[in-house]
Amino acid sequence: MTEAAPMSETIAKPAKPHLPDAQIVTSVTHWTDRLFSFRVTRPQSLRFRSGEFVMIGLMGETGKPLLRAYSIASPAWDDELEFYSIKVPEGPLTSRLQHIVVGDEIILRPKPVGTLVHDALLPGKRLWLLATGTGFAPFASLLREPQTYEKYEQVIMMHTCREVAELNYGRTLVENLAEDPLIGEMVAGKLLYYPTTTRETFSHMGRVTDNLSSGKVFADLGLPQMNPAEDRAMVCGSLAFNIDVKAILEGFGLREGANSEPLEFVVEKAFVGDGI
Ligand SMILES: Cc1cc2nc3c(=O)[nH]c(=O)nc-3n(C[C@H](O)[C@H](O)[C@H](O)COP(=O)(O)OP(=O)(O)OC[C@H]3O[C@@H](n4cnc5c(N)ncnc54)[C@H](O)[C@@H]3O)c2cc1C
Ligand SMILES: NC(=O)c1ccc[n+]([C@@H]2O[C@H](COP(=O)([O-])OP(=O)(O)OC[C@H]3O[C@@H](n4cnc5c(N)ncnc54)[C@H](OP(=O)(O)O)[C@@H]3O)[C@@H](O)[C@H]2O)c1
Repeated sequence: MTEAAPMSETIAKPAKPHLPDAQIVTSVTHWTDRLFSFRVTRPQSLRFRSGEFVMIGLMGETGKPLLRAYSIASPAWDDELEFYSIKVPEGPLTSRLQHIVVGDEIILRPKPVGTLVHDALLPGKRLWLLATGTGFAPFASLLREPQTYEKYEQVIMMHTCREVAELNYGRTLVENLAEDPLIGEMVAGKLLYYPTTTRETFSHMGRVTDNLSSGKVFADLGLPQMNPAEDRAMVCGSLAFNIDVKAILEGFGLREGANSEPLEFVVEKAFVGDGI
């Protein structure tokens, strides 16, 4: 794991892209040896709801685009698009994507979809955002979305990673929210951030599932146990994480909703597969 400070580069004015559906990389930040984030130009016609994902990628060696699903980590109002990515050493896309630099082109299909959107939940008092690893990405969008704070009295962000450095993208984003000219004042007193690690010592530790089941997170934050009358949740992590969290939420009496049928919680996979 890389312990050094994140390495970033940015440009003030991007050049024009050449490929169809191509966007220009405007900044890249490497957070650890297996995590990075980057920003690209936004197609003028692209409209999306904070929390949705799109297909992005690079031109493959055969001349066919090599595309993968990626949550848009920036909010719907941002002029650019941000993504938060894993680096899979042998991964067809990310073994190459991790080497992008400012000025490079990536392919972005402008067809946003997804279930981690406000429209898929019934109104509630508290919104719980539950993530592991890069599952933080859709919540990086929703945490910067004014609607999140207009719709809920409290927003609780639980993010768990194996090691402390893997939390840094999320921690930096949350710390900067207070200074944000658009939502800084809305966030104050409403956002409760609960990061934990599982394999390196940190101030708060333990899996999201264990901290929910044991009631530790409710005790630590001074909140009642989740209940369907007041609580709404969005879940994004590995398949195993999603299955385990879903069972816990259902145990609290919450029901899984969708765009077509808004209910008390929604789930989306952060990636397909169970190992690198
Ligand atoms: C709806 C959806 C949204 C997604 N959003 C993001 C996102 O915002 N950021 C992101 O990094 N990835 C995201 N992914 C995963 C992404 O689509 C790719 O799988 C990932 O970029 C790796 O691509 P690859 O071609 O290098 O390897 P792949 O062949 O796609 O994956 C190889 C293996 O790497 C592991 N893996 C893949 N992605 C991850 C990950 N994110 N975290 C941990 N292990 C992983 C899995 O075990 C997988 O079997 C999302 C996937 C889905 C289905
Ligand atoms: N993170 C690394 O440093 C690292 C390095 C090299 C390779 N990898 C590989 O990369 C892949 C993905 O790793 P990742 O760390 O991004 O994701 P991950 O294995 O899904 O773990 C992310 C976090 O989620 C927790 N978690 C996993 N399953 C859970 C469940 N069912 N319920 C509740 N919490 C759960 C983990 O806790 P636990 O720690 O308790 O499992 C960890 O804190 C894995 O195959 C791994 O072998 C990871």
